[in-house]
Amino acid sequence: MRDLYRALRPLIFRLDPETAHNLAFWLGERACSWPRLPEPEHAPSLRRTAFGLDFPTPLGLAAGLDKGATLLPLWKSLGFGHVEIGTVTPRPQPGNPKPRLFRFPQAGLILNRMGFNSEGAEAVAARLRRRPAGLVVGGNLGKNKETPEALALDDYRAAYRLIAPGVDYIALNVSSPNTPGLRNLQAPAALEPLLAGMLDLRKEMGLERQPLLLKLAPDLAPEDLDAIVEVAAASGISGLIATNTTLDRGVVPEPLRTAVESKGAGGLSGVPLKAKARDVRKRILAALNGRLPLVACGGLGSAEDVRGALNDGAALAQIYSALIFEGPEFVRQIHVGLLERN
Ligand SMILES: Cc1cc2nc3c(=O)[nH]c(=O)nc-3n(C[C@H](O)[C@H](O)[C@H](O)COP(=O)(O)O)c2cc1C
Repeated sequence: MRDLYRALRPLIFRLDPETAHNLAFWLGERACSWPRLPEPEHAPSLRRTAFGLDFPTPLGLAAGLDKGATLLPLWKSLGFGHVEIGTVTPRPQPGNPKPRLFRFPQAGLILNRMGFNSEGAEAVAARLRRRPAGLVVGGNLGKNKETPEALALDDYRAAYRLIAPGVDYIALNVSSPNTPGLRNLQAPAALEPLLAGMLDLRKEMGLERQPLLLKLAPDLAPEDLDAIVEVAAASGISGLIATNTTLDRGVVPEPLRTAVESKGAGGLSGVPLKAKARDVRKRILAALNGRLPLVACGGLGSAEDVRGALNDGAALAQIYSALIFEGPEFVRQIHVGLLERN
């Protein structure tokens, strides 16, 4: 399967990015039905425990690639210890008009304005009933585009009811830049009732022991980050994920600025996000002072980066863009690198 991907990569990179994505998923679905997908054995030294869950390795797949939980056996086979599915919205929605996904391989950069294309929570929940054992699965939740900000909690709760019973942890996504108003939910005045409402529902459903995480944007001012950390730590949620994509065009290397600008709106991820996401994580970790675990995400593109994030104090690490540019073999390479200096 890996050789097949390697052989196809030049072709895939010549295709329109969303067509390439669909082709990769089509192949991935075929791979998932192979009777003998390889099962990587992780070294015991890679094991981690975070928010009460055991992870075979700290490395996970970030939200947004497998929005519908269609390729779980494949991610497990590639060596990921956890996969965050979603973002799932309560009702199905198509997302933004195409084109909405752009790659800049020379800079390891992705620009996306997918806008939560989602099959809806019911369809995804049905698929989760057939999830493989031995892989930690998180469910990343969002609101439908047409739902007014004031009713966002209803959407998160509706999605939670369907998704939570099928996953190991839940992540509330209040940080995607591609759903108008979504990031406003990070403001303490909006965040407090949102978290309280979700924790109430968690209790109501008897899922008190299931971790509830919050995923944050990299574009928050340091003082705002501090305030958000206080709300999160006081609320009783289980952890934070930082970061989502950035709206900041200042991270784009100069020679590419015009090209990126010409593609229009959207969030940036990959190598150019690395420094910004790391700064944000360091600020969060300092403010948290050990009160909650943090999952590192954003611009992690090597074993060094992952080790750096873990050394900074993150409990786990997630990747997305680097997997697109480096291919499936990259997961194994990161593990080799992590073990070399473990
Ligand atoms: C095409 C694309 C779609 C994404 N969709 C989601 C999403 O639905 N929900 C979410 O929380 N994050 C989403 N993300 C953000 C990633 O989970 C991650 O936070 C971000 O890409 C930074 O990590 P990276 O630099 O390793 O890619 C998406 C990222 C990309 C590139």
